[in-house]
Amino acid sequence: PYPLYAEMRKTPIAREPDGSYVVSSYHLITSLLHDPRLSSDARNFPAGSRQAQLAAAGKFPIPFIRLDPPDHDRLRRMVTRQFGPPHAAGLVDSMRQELADVVEDLLDRVRGHHQIDIVDDFAYPFPVTVICRLLGVPAEDEQLFHAWADALVESLDPEVGQEAAAQGRQRALAARSELNQYMSKLISARQQQPGDDMLSRLATDNGPDGRLTSGDLVSTSGLLLIAGHETTVNLITNGMLTLLRHPEVLERLRHDPELAIPLVEELLRFEPPVQFNSQRVTTADIQIDGQTIPKGTQVYLMLAAANRDPEQFADSEQFIPDRQNNEHLGFGSGIHYCFGAPLARLEVQLALNTLAQRLINPRLVIDPPPYRPGAVLRGPRHLLVQIDGVA
Ligand code: HEM
Repeated sequence: PYPLYAEMRKTPIAREPDGSYVVSSYHLITSLLHDPRLSSDARNFPAGSRQAQLAAAGKFPIPFIRLDPPDHDRLRRMVTRQFGPPHAAGLVDSMRQELADVVEDLLDRVRGHHQIDIVDDFAYPFPVTVICRLLGVPAEDEQLFHAWADALVESLDPEVGQEAAAQGRQRALAARSELNQYMSKLISARQQQPGDDMLSRLATDNGPDGRLTSGDLVSTSGLLLIAGHETTVNLITNGMLTLLRHPEVLERLRHDPELAIPLVEELLRFEPPVQFNSQRVTTADIQIDGQTIPKGTQVYLMLAAANRDPEQFADSEQFIPDRQNNEHLGFGSGIHYCFGAPLARLEVQLALNTLAQRLINPRLVIDPPPYRPGAVLRGPRHLLVQIDGVA
């Protein structure tokens, strides 16, 4: 997609035949992500649109990624009290050893193998195991979330063809309803018998904002379960693919694990799992860059195009593992900036470091690998790697 993005940046605000707008330059996207007139609230989308339809059909409240202030801020704050700053550093850091154990265990399982699939053997099970442990969700139910996450992620993509669109909406609705039922049951169980997990803490929190209603609890915990799923998988896989294409960087990482810190930021810029944001709508006419985006318009923000904008990044098409001042948009920006960023960073740094240390002489089998369908989330479906063993 990257040559296409370079082409798009020549017209950084483009009106599409369906009336939506596509924005592709770094400074326009960052400015819009901080503009309160650009809403994430599904109910502000035009009547009949998928977003409005899915919002209206739901029995449970909307998760905070699809809400505006003040509801967004209140819910995000309640989760932050348990998870994020000032606790983030503490909680995420305290998980370091546990995460390392999960990673080592996954690699121990493929010890005698000479070919592995980075996706199925490693990148997929790792974040799922982590988020399940953190929330206190049984990991053996993972197959269920996998299917729900797929259907919900699919519903972020632009719709193509009427029949396929109708089926996609149906799948998204069914997935959300099953996820909500599943979370409701689990929350009731935790309320009766709290454990030492996030779900129990959220369910019993009596902070300054009061308790979460059971509906908010269901949609918030469902969001946490799903949001970090495929995104983290794709960053690990995109990362390993990029490293195998630049073996000298893989070698550097093997000798200098600290390189993982800037490297992960560069991967979020260079091969971001979330390529664009399809969930924004204007609540007023917005004048920007000499144009007016009318009220009620869906706006696509091309994060991955912004990440390669030469006006923001020197040598923007180059992969520079220790790039400085890397203000990429891989986690978004503004009030919806990725809530799981500290956890995702730690997971991916650890994953790439351990793969670099333990895979002996890894080589790509197929390049380019097969990609998963869909335009919003980008990452290989499989990434086959030949190895001489696992250390
Ligand atoms: C929001 C990317 C991992 C939870 C976002 C957004 C992006 C993003 C681009 C902004 C969406 C918007 O503006 O509408 C990523 C990437 C990840 C990752 C690339 C992995 C490499 C995670 C993890 C979690 C998580 C592990 C959960 C523990 C969330 C939540 C939001 C969010 C709850 C909504 C925040 C809000 O609306 O205030 N993420 N994410 N993410 N992410 Fe992540």
